[in-house]
Amino acid sequence: MSQSDGSPYKVVVCRNLGPDVMPLLENRHEFELVVWPEDRACDRTWLLENIPGATGVIVMLTDKVNTELLDKAGPSLRVVSTMSVGYEHIDLKAAAQRALKVGYTPDVLTDAVADLSVMLALMAGRNGGIGAALVQKGEWSNFSWAPFGFCGPQLSTTATSPTRKIGFLGFGRIAQATLARLVPFGITHCLYSSSPSSPPNLQRDAELAKKYNLKAVTKVDLDELARESDVLFVLAPGGPGTYHVVNDDLLRKMKKTSIIVNASRGTLVDSDALAKALKEGWVWGAGLDVVEGEPNVTRDHPLVKEPRCVIVPHIASATLETRKDMATRAAHNLIAAILGGDMPAEVDL
Ligand code: DGY
Repeated sequence: MSQSDGSPYKVVVCRNLGPDVMPLLENRHEFELVVWPEDRACDRTWLLENIPGATGVIVMLTDKVNTELLDKAGPSLRVVSTMSVGYEHIDLKAAAQRALKVGYTPDVLTDAVADLSVMLALMAGRNGGIGAALVQKGEWSNFSWAPFGFCGPQLSTTATSPTRKIGFLGFGRIAQATLARLVPFGITHCLYSSSPSSPPNLQRDAELAKKYNLKAVTKVDLDELARESDVLFVLAPGGPGTYHVVNDDLLRKMKKTSIIVNASRGTLVDSDALAKALKEGWVWGAGLDVVEGEPNVTRDHPLVKEPRCVIVPHIASATLETRKDMATRAAHNLIAAILGGDMPAEVDL
């Protein structure tokens, strides 16, 4: 199937999807592929030059899909497929006005992101960042074993500390997968806050509590979430509705031994407020996969300067298996939207 005049559909791909996935697109004679040729984020000027006349485009979370781009694409555009579960970089209103289809990649990255969230909680609590850095610098010999050297709060319960309350800001697929991983740590309570407009799902929460043998799974307000959580996982979508939801006010209410993990979007956390909270000891530590303004996070960033802040460069979904699955899903979303059939994962516009 090609266009009515027999010409192939132009498809712009903003990043090479690798040798396992590119053939899914390359072997389609219905497509004329235009692929950003470099191994770095797609250049905006290149994208604007190449998008006119495209029927579909595969983007990354680094590519802003706004009216500028959609207007340049013109009326031929039918689908925007992003290789990400988050879609804050896409102007959904503008896409809906143009009757576009938008594809994304939920589910396939849930486990990888949940794995890394637990890693960050452990790294931040147990001084993993500080410890690894000093060994790298050849400084281990300055620190012989000491009774309370490098101690931090324990994630798992102990006989003398039998309660662990885990908080989730956002309680979707990734948060629930993270909860499942924490059950063997002996956690006792799960608290979560999600959109104020959605009522608590009491039946689901009771089922989760029973399944994981927890004292409670409870929807709470942000104040209670801040006050009660031993570890707070920030796993909600980005965008204006959650901008700086972790701010000075919330951080001041947290336990001094608490850990914050953010594996969602940097914009949810006010970096200056978190740096102050770490410096002044309102919270114990932080593990961040994302930081507002990334990738421009340099050595003089206030959070990089905080020793108890472990930062990794947006790699929560970066496993060989998951990235291949995400790229495959992005390709299949695009193919279905253009050639017909159900998109594996379409954003509701
Ligand atoms: C996503 O897919 O939105 C993730 O942030 C990628 O790691």
